[in-house]
Amino acid sequence: MSEKVLVAYATRMGATATIAAAIGAELRRAGHEVEVHEVTDVKAVSEYGAVVVGSAIYFGRWRPEAVRFLRDHARELRSRPVWLFHSGPIGPGRDVPQTVPSDVDRLAAKIGARPVRTFSGNLQPDTAAGGRARRARVDTMVGDARDWPQIRTWADEIAAALS
Ligand SMILES: Cc1cc2nc3c(=O)[nH]c(=O)nc-3n(C[C@H](O)[C@H](O)[C@H](O)COP(=O)(O)O)c2cc1C
Repeated sequence: MSEKVLVAYATRMGATATIAAAIGAELRRAGHEVEVHEVTDVKAVSEYGAVVVGSAIYFGRWRPEAVRFLRDHARELRSRPVWLFHSGPIGPGRDVPQTVPSDVDRLAAKIGARPVRTFSGNLQPDTAAGGRARRARVDTMVGDARDWPQIRTWADEIAAALS
């Protein structure tokens, strides 16, 4: 019988939520009990045997609520296996692993988390058409680069490590 796994995520436009859901579904398929929640909905991690945390990347940074989650729960996360991922790259550089922001890097070291895994993201005209996207000139890079087989393979590696 495996311990319950938490998959916690931070998103702005939904792509990271779907990646977290896919990871959760794959872990469940492998026989683990899993809960998938937005980081802001998680009050404590004590009931989970392992934790996966993912955030969307904006301007090279993780979502602030994801950083806060790592900081607030660092002590408890340290005593359980933790996997981290971030979702972002799209367009021509979609397969390029993204630099881990320094605040996340420090917290990951403190927690003893596995190396951060990059997953390609998704940017759609309806959600990217806002002012920030336009100012960042990312509106030419619209597209869905999420690689579901790659995401499932990573979840299988987690499942194997937990078994
Ligand atoms: C304004 C803006 C800035 C972005 N900055 C980055 C970035 O620095 N690095 C990156 O890899 N992706 C960046 N992206 C792409 C997003 O991370 C990508 O669309 C991601 O899948 C969004 O996740 P979400 O839907 O969970 O919010 C940016 C997108 C926007 C709209």
